[in-house]
Amino acid sequence: MDLKVVLVACGALLLSVGCNKEEKASGGAVGATTGAATAAGGGSDDPAAYYKMKCAVCHGDSGAGDGPGGSALTPKPRNFTEAAWHGTVKDEDIKKAIVEGGAAVGKSAAMPGNPDLRGKPALADALVKHLRGMKK
Ligand code: HEC
Repeated sequence: MDLKVVLVACGALLLSVGCNKEEKASGGAVGATTGAATAAGGGSDDPAAYYKMKCAVCHGDSGAGDGPGGSALTPKPRNFTEAAWHGTVKDEDIKKAIVEGGAAVGKSAAMPGNPDLRGKPALADALVKHLRGMKK
């Protein structure tokens, strides 16, 4: 076989493989975005998903209070991994802070309320449990 032909065929093969990969990758990203949008619009009842969507930006993925949205805030978003904090706060107060906002419990108003949870007491309770589970 002519070497040129082999090279061209190889190039075409590589190209098509590369293209396929890219298509798959962007297809996956679109799928993920759609999933997040659905969760946001429909209001997920999964506390972990709700946390990721509405809390992680400030409180951080693992609850350490290190999310990018909280870095400029004073006081900083609560670090939910701190065992000492868990000992000082009641479930009721955690829930009130989440649903009504920080100001409702004498904390910073930078902690936004989540009035959508007023009609979802089970999800609010599950969120409290989720935060409790972040304790180190
Ligand atoms: C815009 C950033 C931001 C978002 C988003 C946010 N928080 Fe906060 N949160 C804060 C800040 C700042 C504080 C600290 C307030 C203080 O110490 O005065 C706080 C405090 C709290 C507290 C009170 C802790 C304590 O000291 O008693 C709880 C509970 C809480 N957040 C839960 C959540 C949950 C759950 C979500 C998601 C539904 C959430 N937060 C979303 C910024 C945020």
